[in-house]
Amino acid sequence: MAGLIPQNFIDDLISRTDIVDLIDGRVKLKKAGKSYVACCPFHGEKSPSFHVSQDKQFYHCFGCGASGNVSSFLMEYDRLDFPDAVDELAGIYNLDVPREDSGNEKKSAQQYSIDKQKKLDYYELMAQVEQYYRQQLQSNKNSKDVIDYLKNRGLSGEIAKRFGIGYAPDDWQEVKDKFGKGFQHENQLLETGVLIKNEKGRVYDRFRNRVMFPIRDRRGRVIGFGGRVLDDTTPKYLNSPETPIFHKGSELYGFFEAKQANRDLKRLLVVEGYMDVVALAQNGISWAVASLGTATTTEQIQLMFRNANEIICCYDGDRAGREAAWRTLQNSLPHLQDGRQIKFMFLPDGEDPDSMVRTLGEQKFIELVEQAKPLSQFLFENLLSQVEMDSEDGRSTLAKLALPLVSSIADGVFQQMMKEKLAKYLGLEADSLNRFIQQDKPTQAKQKRKEAKRGSIVRQAIGLLIQHPSLVKAISDIPELSQIKIKGTGLLQTLINQVRQQPEITSPQLLERWRGTPEYPSLLKMAAWEHDVENDNLEPQFIDTIIEIINKHLELRLEQLAHKSRVDKLTSEERQEYAQLIQNER
Ligand code: CTP
Ligand code: MN
Repeated sequence: MAGLIPQNFIDDLISRTDIVDLIDGRVKLKKAGKSYVACCPFHGEKSPSFHVSQDKQFYHCFGCGASGNVSSFLMEYDRLDFPDAVDELAGIYNLDVPREDSGNEKKSAQQYSIDKQKKLDYYELMAQVEQYYRQQLQSNKNSKDVIDYLKNRGLSGEIAKRFGIGYAPDDWQEVKDKFGKGFQHENQLLETGVLIKNEKGRVYDRFRNRVMFPIRDRRGRVIGFGGRVLDDTTPKYLNSPETPIFHKGSELYGFFEAKQANRDLKRLLVVEGYMDVVALAQNGISWAVASLGTATTTEQIQLMFRNANEIICCYDGDRAGREAAWRTLQNSLPHLQDGRQIKFMFLPDGEDPDSMVRTLGEQKFIELVEQAKPLSQFLFENLLSQVEMDSEDGRSTLAKLALPLVSSIADGVFQQMMKEKLAKYLGLEADSLNRFIQQDKPTQAKQKRKEAKRGSIVRQAIGLLIQHPSLVKAISDIPELSQIKIKGTGLLQTLINQVRQQPEITSPQLLERWRGTPEYPSLLKMAAWEHDVENDNLEPQFIDTIIEIINKHLELRLEQLAHKSRVDKLTSEERQEYAQLIQNER
């Protein structure tokens, strides 16, 4: 029989889970003063008397008296028994629920008390390390230079303090020696990413001679760091890795500080970098956060919308910026409800919010923020730039591109408005668009079949490449494809290598290399394939097919790992990979 679930494991799950997040995923919550409210899910009512307190991590209904913590909520709402509720919570973090070995309770009790000790220490250790870095900013032999650096970037002591900015000494083992005494401590520092181990097994400080930006969770606890060099050595920034307490995709740099500085957040500005957040705060704009990757994740969007009704995403005006904005747009559509707004602003080439706010000042910068494009404008501008609206074909492409996006918005006034806009572009009545939407699903299936007919995605890539070898230039930094276990990727990689060795090679030359091989007949067919991709579109199309191959590979890998995790145990590498893949999925 399975033993008990260790208490410390349950404690840990509960402390990790924010009750507001959890409930909001099931029952939409509205902020009301210090707590969040909704109509109670446990009894019928018209005005909300169900309260959720973030401080207390507790819910209570003044109507029917239901109350409890995250696990009680899951038991009541999802109608689970306790072990299943724990399982559900553990699932959020991709953890297996451990069981105490019932034959050997004494030993395991001791074991778990060490574990419990350990978990508390992660936060405690991070707090101590953060404090140490802050002290070093004052007392290190390099402090004058570091403080000069910060001053040069326009930062005052007060702002540096608000963000807990510090300095990691120019040394390989200051932090290790100071905090890593004893095996247990050294391990914990490794697990939180403050120390790092090289292949030879040597353990040393990850952050050396860097300005340190502590990353805090929404409750203000330090969970990671970003460290910047003081000159132009690379890498410019070094970040904490994913750790048991730091999950990049669910955190926002500066979010805690923004909440502290603003009793009520009207809006949140999403920027790219640490320095952008800090420089904005220095210039009076204390409502900026940075997503800790390029595109903003669904989880981050939900977190922001629980605290503010308007999100403005600020990007570079270049192609990468526009692409990141588009991904954010896709991630945000399902979370747009009436009353919530998301806008996009693009900065001129070579500028970032830090440089802009320093030259323009607070007021002018805010004016720019206020001119940000509403989502609807960005969405349609982007799609319209891809199609030719004066042809029937163009309009039908627009419908194909726009319909899935518009349909993913929550039902309501906003979705209706978007439908009307789309209908107008298409020269239709909004009603007939509705019929279009109903028909959309079979259309998608048809589309899939058509794609299947055109041959597999790998065949497409090979076909394009063999006909236009110079396309290889467009994919200079893709990973090795031969590792990918999809039919044909080995062949594709060999072709890529051949072109790389001889970049000027022409299509017939390339084909010639293969004469007499088993692959030759099919390569010949692919060389003869009449694709209908326009010349201007070849590069993007080719890049798309390559990306699709990689995505397909990641999807397969995810399925594989998900399957293995159900029937067997994942190794720690697999577990990390799995978590990473799930992250990418979002
Ligand atoms: N970044 C990173 N690693 C790098 C470069 C950048 O993690 N090697 C992340 C950091 O979060 C950084 C953000 O991407 O803040 C934006 O990078 P970039 O625009 O290059 O830097 P800035 O924020 O402008 O930094 P600075 O102004 O300090 O040069
Ligand atoms: Mn910058």
